[in-house]
Amino acid sequence: MRRKNFIKTCGYACLGATVFAPLMQGCVSSKTITAPIEGENLRIPISNFEKDGKILSYLVVSNPQLRYPIYVFRFSENDYAALYMQCSHQGNEVTAYGDKLVCSAHGSEFDNRGKVTNGPASNSLRSFPLQIDHQNILISLRKV
Ligand code: FES
Repeated sequence: MRRKNFIKTCGYACLGATVFAPLMQGCVSSKTITAPIEGENLRIPISNFEKDGKILSYLVVSNPQLRYPIYVFRFSENDYAALYMQCSHQGNEVTAYGDKLVCSAHGSEFDNRGKVTNGPASNSLRSFPLQIDHQNILISLRKV
């Protein structure tokens, strides 16, 4: 292979890895589920964080009774955050991209604890108290 063709081939390979690797990682590190509401709690079996032998970093959880889904981020085995996916600026639904949430309406961004990292939003996303019982995360919906 001539040097010019080798460099060209390597360039395309690097470009492909740069563009597609994050997309592939996004496919593996999250999933969307529907979870039941029991009493005042949304019940999420912790087993949902397992996929193909790997531990997912977050779930997007919906239920027909909720207007917006809830983003559940796993920091560790005993540390999770549950955030309502409604932008605190003007109420658009935010989209999860790994450990951040982005609002397509005006560009606000939030971290995985719901704090604003980029305006125009000035308030955090709504977060829910949760508790863990052996096999489930119980998210309290008392204030929704
Ligand atoms: S509604 Fe989300 S940034 Fe404006």
